[in-house]
Amino acid sequence: MSEFEERYRAARRKVIETDLRRLNPMQRKAAMTTEGPLLLLAGAGSGKTTVLIQRIYTLLTYGRGSDTDFTPDWATADDLEFLERFPEQPDDAEFARARELCAIDPPRPWEIIAITFTNKAAGELKERLAARLGPVANDVWASTFHSACVRILRRYIERIGFERTFTIYDTDDSQRVLKDIVKELNLDAKSFSPRSVHSEIGWAKDLFIGPKEYAK
Ligand SMILES: Nc1ncnc2c1ncn2[C@@H]1O[C@H](COP(=O)(O)OP(=O)(O)OP(=O)(O)O)[C@@H](O)[C@H]1O
Ligand SMILES: [Mg+2]
Repeated sequence: MSEFEERYRAARRKVIETDLRRLNPMQRKAAMTTEGPLLLLAGAGSGKTTVLIQRIYTLLTYGRGSDTDFTPDWATADDLEFLERFPEQPDDAEFARARELCAIDPPRPWEIIAITFTNKAAGELKERLAARLGPVANDVWASTFHSACVRILRRYIERIGFERTFTIYDTDDSQRVLKDIVKELNLDAKSFSPRSVHSEIGWAKDLFIGPKEYAK
């Protein structure tokens, strides 16, 4: 790396750190880690969701800027000088230029997915994203695992031979169907209880064993 590149990279990190100055050092480190997987393990109420929100903000604003050695070839000595000076006296009016100079391949909002288990947690995520990002937050995929998956399926399921208008069966629905099938096949309802057939199918699905292979 040339001296210019080295300085540009360091100045860029400093600017992004300045933008995230309200986080504590570990939170900031996490929010600035954009490449590869990241596990954040911390106690209740210690600021995990805050990191998630700030990390999405960092991604949208700076792309890989906080976590890459890459220096854009359009960067000038003037830009570098501006970035090195900026954190000393961060001026809101100049933040737009600083952000522009620090952004590397920022993703589009709909290229980000933030998923969680419960509707309550998903609701909190959406609300806090909206508070942090404004209207752009609507385009981020923030939801439960289930609703994210169903959205993907509604859009693309025709590609694997199903209709978009599919309905989702819950456990009760599934077991009712299994009961009918066991009856139709004249199997012993006691040895083939809906519950045990259901869990057997679940087991096969976990192991990626399809119907044909299972039949063997
Ligand atoms: N670095 C910080 N400085 C000051 N306040 C903070 C900081 N980080 C988080 N907070 C505040 O602490 C509170 C809890 O944060 P947050 O909701 O992110 O925690 P959490 O770990 O996700 O909590 P939970 O375990 O309940 O999901 C919030 O009010 C948040 O604004
Ligand atoms: Mg939380």
